[in-house]
Amino acid sequence: MTMGGDGGSLIPIAMGHAPAPNTLLRQAYDMSRVLAVTSEIYPLIKTGGLADVTGALPLALNAAGVETITLVPGYPAVLQGLKNPGEVWHFPDMFGGHAYVIRGTAASLDLLVLDAPHLFNRPGNPYNGPDGREWHDNGIRFAALGAAGAAIGNGLIPGLSFDIVHAHDWQSAMAPVYLNYHHGPRPGTVLTIHNLAFQGRFAASLFPRLGLPGSAFGFDGLEYHHDVSFLKGGLCFADRLTTVSPTYAREITTEEYGMGLDGLMRYRAASLTGIVNGIDDAVWNPATDELIPHKFSRGRIGQRAGNKTALQRRLGLVESQSALVIGVVSRLTSQKGLDMLLENLPGLIADGVQLALLGSGERELEFSFIEAAARNPGAIGCVMGYNEQLAHLIQAGSDALLVPSRFEPCGLTQLCALRYGSIPVVSRVGGLADTVIDANEAALTAGVATGIQFSPATPEALEDGLRRLLILWRNQPVWQRMQRNAMNADVSWRNPAAHYATLYNSILAERS
Ligand code: ADP
Ligand code: GLC
Repeated sequence: MTMGGDGGSLIPIAMGHAPAPNTLLRQAYDMSRVLAVTSEIYPLIKTGGLADVTGALPLALNAAGVETITLVPGYPAVLQGLKNPGEVWHFPDMFGGHAYVIRGTAASLDLLVLDAPHLFNRPGNPYNGPDGREWHDNGIRFAALGAAGAAIGNGLIPGLSFDIVHAHDWQSAMAPVYLNYHHGPRPGTVLTIHNLAFQGRFAASLFPRLGLPGSAFGFDGLEYHHDVSFLKGGLCFADRLTTVSPTYAREITTEEYGMGLDGLMRYRAASLTGIVNGIDDAVWNPATDELIPHKFSRGRIGQRAGNKTALQRRLGLVESQSALVIGVVSRLTSQKGLDMLLENLPGLIADGVQLALLGSGERELEFSFIEAAARNPGAIGCVMGYNEQLAHLIQAGSDALLVPSRFEPCGLTQLCALRYGSIPVVSRVGGLADTVIDANEAALTAGVATGIQFSPATPEALEDGLRRLLILWRNQPVWQRMQRNAMNADVSWRNPAAHYATLYNSILAERS
């Protein structure tokens, strides 16, 4: 491993050089700029909501006058999807192999792709091989992403200077760590926590390979129960921390939701902000959505009925407008609480309710839902796997969308549901609590309800929430009012992007 060519740098990669000028996409910039660093980005590579956020936020920031360029690993899907590619840097030794930085675009995103074939040219998803097991060298792979983010964020590439490096989750949390140990001027750093449950924890034997001073492996650094934790490092060293809803920002300072890091979250509470996510309202627009058979809008809500029929047909459900169809689009893991739905299925079926579920995840949960569908043909329809088209059809054709999470940093499917006029039924945690207005007496009287919240996240409270849902369904004037409210909710990125812009500015003001 080679130390950086720039004397003060502790970034453990050979800094290399730009290619001959004719291949360098030089541009003259004078406005302030953000380098986002992420391990996934929609529409190129996605395993969850992180990709939706990193794919949409830069566009909203650009619209708000904050230029954002995103660094993402060069997995095969990313390199294949990249338009107008041009090499802008060559690292001769990045943790044991050559790496190139390719600048290009995809779906209006301005991208820098870290093309390190020895680390990222692999089949499977970003973290696991085709056998579903994590790659053995994920520590090195995402240390490389962080190191490249730190170097590029610090102005490595001619013509590309940055004021802020914005890292997302543990996979890019090493960027603020490396920048913290860089001597001399550096950009401001932000780390966004999308899910505190994923911490990037590796054996202590990784530490010497990271090229950091010994002091970085301490209680106030990367060390976590004798292991290395990338997330903890980022949480210690980023100038500012954000998470994806105000309620989750409070929750993670408590033992119940802090995943072992609540002490650190309390310590850094003054630097922690909760900014609720938006959704890309061009991708999720029922009036123009190419993935649904019947387009609709607030004014033409009657058109939804055709989508309900299409959904029922697609999932083998009895075609009936009067049956309440509850949709689910989710990873099937304990976070998402769908085991609690299993317990409630007999009651729902008895009430004539239908379930349309799209999910993938833990084998046992998948199996339980498939079995329930086999036992209740016409009432329960399940598809296991990842299917973008069906996700849109469920949002457009279901009457209600269930998100019974045990914890939920933000949650995006309830936002899509609001926009598509499917009434969200959510547990009162994290971003679910912040984005759905419960149909309690006060909200119904004021005519502002958009959905149902239940609490605590238990099968009994869920049952109660579902009972309330059914009562509302049977009162169609009230239901339709809720649908209109839901579709009126602002779930766009406009406000959140303005919050991020203010946050960036406050960091710059502090540092100037
Ligand atoms: P998380 O990131 O925790 O899984 P979010 O609600 O933030 O939860 O984001 C999930 C994203 O993934 C949403 O865009 C949702 O539509 C999508 N999604 C989840 N499961 C599936 C699936 N099986 N098929 C298609 N899209 C899915
Ligand atoms: C994580 C969280 C989810 C959030 C998403 C995007 O995957 O589990 O709640 O919406 O990140 O921030």
